[in-house]
Amino acid sequence: MLNIDLTGRRALVTGSSSGLGSAIALAMADAGASVAIHYLKDQRAADDVVARIRQRGGTAQAFQADVSVVSEVQRLFDEVTLAFGGLDILVNNAGMDGAAANCADSDPAQWARVLAVDLQAPYNCARLALKPMLAQQRGVIINITSVHEFIPWSGYSAYTSAKAGLSMFTKTLAQEVAGSGVRVLAIAPGAIKTPINASVWQDPKGLADLDEKIAMGRLGEPDEIGRVAAFLASDLASYITGTSIAVDGGMLIYPDFRHGG
Ligand code: BGC
Repeated sequence: MLNIDLTGRRALVTGSSSGLGSAIALAMADAGASVAIHYLKDQRAADDVVARIRQRGGTAQAFQADVSVVSEVQRLFDEVTLAFGGLDILVNNAGMDGAAANCADSDPAQWARVLAVDLQAPYNCARLALKPMLAQQRGVIINITSVHEFIPWSGYSAYTSAKAGLSMFTKTLAQEVAGSGVRVLAIAPGAIKTPINASVWQDPKGLADLDEKIAMGRLGEPDEIGRVAAFLASDLASYITGTSIAVDGGMLIYPDFRHGG
């Protein structure tokens, strides 16, 4: 039997009080990792994820921080290190789409906020995670990008720019540390059923439109990302670094070209 085994590994998953982050945290805990559940505002939701992990016999603790702020990330890492004694896995998952606005009508402060959360924050966290990882010659950093690191998306130029940037950050970082036992990867999810896009998939018209953009014809479930993250963090993926793994039900294979052209 081939098992994903993260026994003894300590993981920090940003934005893990809901959505993809909580599914990733649960999957990693199921594989044996101790998981730091990070949240920005919703302590109750974070505590709920911690409770679910503990019910399943796992180890987890909740931590609050605004990961776009350097000093808060320092405090977060100090707290996680104190609680868990180190760090082996970082998942930069916290993110936001931002409000839809074409460039000409957009607000610079909102554009900057999306960049701060979706690109600067992963940098803030990776920078500090690398210190213990390089010292112990072992570690995995997983950045959650999106199919929109590849696919343009009208109204969301901050998001697409941040995700494409995060993809290149992933590759550059992977190159910097490849000889040091640290792997750096990205997962590029497609449309997954989470709160981030609930306004679309809860609306029948929005759901039908989204399904048409997916070759498999359905949205993904959060645990379909969680399982991939657990695998990529494990030694089973020991030869994978510096690349984006798309988990998108075939969004990137241009399903519209099944006909016509
Ligand atoms: C976005 C979702 C969107 C999906 C597919 C994701 O990166 O966060 O809001 O539904 O891409 O377009």
